[in-house]
Amino acid sequence: MPRSLEFHGSAAAWDDYPVEIIDSHSLGPHQRIVLSFADSGLRFKPGQFLNLSVPGHLLRRPLAPAGQHGSEIELIVTPFGPGTHKLVRLKPGSRLRALAPLGNSFPVAPGDAVLIGAGAGAAPLAFLAARLLAYGRNVTVLHGAPSNEDAELVRALYGGLEVQLEYFSEDGSLGRTGLPTAALHELLASGAEVTVYSVGPYALMKAAAAVALAWRRPAFVSLDAHMACGVGACLSCAVMTKSGQKHACKDGPVFAAEEVRW
Ligand SMILES: Cc1cc2nc3c(=O)[nH]c(=O)nc-3n(C[C@H](O)[C@H](O)[C@H](O)COP(=O)(O)OP(=O)(O)OC[C@H]3O[C@@H](n4cnc5c(N)ncnc54)[C@H](O)[C@@H]3O)c2cc1C
Ligand code: FES
Repeated sequence: MPRSLEFHGSAAAWDDYPVEIIDSHSLGPHQRIVLSFADSGLRFKPGQFLNLSVPGHLLRRPLAPAGQHGSEIELIVTPFGPGTHKLVRLKPGSRLRALAPLGNSFPVAPGDAVLIGAGAGAAPLAFLAARLLAYGRNVTVLHGAPSNEDAELVRALYGGLEVQLEYFSEDGSLGRTGLPTAALHELLASGAEVTVYSVGPYALMKAAAAVALAWRRPAFVSLDAHMACGVGACLSCAVMTKSGQKHACKDGPVFAAEEVRW
């Protein structure tokens, strides 16, 4: 593997930080939450995550930042079960704790990039887009959603970035009708020599990986495994790869698509 494709991030460098919510507002069905890490000196890389405490819940929730500005970390939270529903209702001024930074990060591959995602998967992908642009890469974003519900989300995350953004809605209410994987297929069939990065539902990442591998393009995914400790101590995040069982929290969450046993 060329050096530029090595994964970044040290699973040993995390700590348990006090954090404060300094802003929280909705973006359609999602919530943008800004956390302050005060003067921690903490630096996240795109793809890494934090494990955030939720009042009244024993286990923390893994969330992958959409960006970092000094000591402020931007999160996109999509309410799913009780923990994330509670998180999106917390007011600015709420104090929580976060284990961070956890896991590895996306490699910056040579050449241009296609980022294909959906829902809150857009958060780490937008962070990655900013990093890739800083390295001079051209970035195409293919975002899929059931309807136009993610319009505010993509505007907020990608509006300030010089990416080529294409929105796909299954019901045709915004952008192109259908799935973003169809556009990925078209792009790779045209001979585009790009690296593919995908974060979203399992089915989307699996389909994106299959298209990339069919056209022999490198692809990276962030596996959304069920997590508890977040630091490699409990085995709840086990995923199967071609080199055996791995901890998504410690060995991932970013994996080369060809390594994953889908
Ligand atoms: C690396 C990583 C990054 C993530 N980033 C984001 C993000 O930026 N925004 C976002 O909205 N969601 C993200 N998720 C998914 C999010 O962590 C889950 O939706 C959330 O933990 C569900 O908690 P809950 O209490 O709402 O649901 P419940 O189902 O009640 O959760 C119960 C327990 O299962 C765990 N769990 C449940 N679903 C998941 C899941 N999909 N992944 C991991 N653990 C789960 C919870 O941590 C909790 O311990 C990420 C997941 C991973 C693994
Ligand atoms: S979440 Fe505990 S080992 Fe990965």
